[in-house]
Amino acid sequence: MNPNVHPFFHEDSSTWTYVVVEPEGAHAAIIDPVLDFDPKAGRTSTTSARALLDFITAHQLKIEWIIETHAHADHLSAGHWLKRHLPEARLAIGDGIRKVQKTFRPIFNLGEHFPVDGSQFDHLFGDTETYRIGKMQGRVIPVPGHTNDSVAHLIGDALFTGDSLFMPDGGTARCDFPGGDAGRLYDSIQRLFELPDDTRVFVCHDYAPGGREHRCESTIAQQKAANIHVHEGTTRDTFIRIARNAMPRSTCRC
Ligand SMILES: [Fe+2]
Repeated sequence: MNPNVHPFFHEDSSTWTYVVVEPEGAHAAIIDPVLDFDPKAGRTSTTSARALLDFITAHQLKIEWIIETHAHADHLSAGHWLKRHLPEARLAIGDGIRKVQKTFRPIFNLGEHFPVDGSQFDHLFGDTETYRIGKMQGRVIPVPGHTNDSVAHLIGDALFTGDSLFMPDGGTARCDFPGGDAGRLYDSIQRLFELPDDTRVFVCHDYAPGGREHRCESTIAQQKAANIHVHEGTTRDTFIRIARNAMPRSTCRC
């Protein structure tokens, strides 16, 4: 059963948030919601999250999951705020979040009191776990490389890649954060390339290279044919060289 996918674009962080809804039904999931942040004022706000909530209310959706594809470096998540307004929903992320928390606790000087067991979430997805959104089935595909906790979600024919793949002309995510690994990202993308060619691919960010309009959707066939960092035939060594030399200096802020 293939979902209806409603994208919402967050201008400041070039993030795509999705509301994924079962066809002819009301059960749904939110993927990668953004909390607005004004760095000059040091203040957060919920304008973008409220727009999601308004959409959910207007369509009388029953949100079962609020899903993070990974711990984001470039923006804050509205997951906890939405959970307060949608108490039935389960806030979830891949169980690799525990590794990310262990890595970043000393870097950000979070202190020993900061839990590194993922207990900030209601559910930690295991590798290859399956789950339901109403009548639809979701499946986790582990895609470590950009971060240790990165997971993609396949819901019907719709793949939510997080930052593992961008639009074909945007390439892939950076791998230079602590815990990042270009070789592992290459291996992860090969797993995504095994999906059917007509699988719809929805990205977490789009930086609109060349000044084109922002886009969020491609297919596995389009990615295999034309992704500028990794397409069919790109070797692991070539990808690792591109990751070292190109990605951190590109427009990729993910
Ligand atoms: Fe990211």
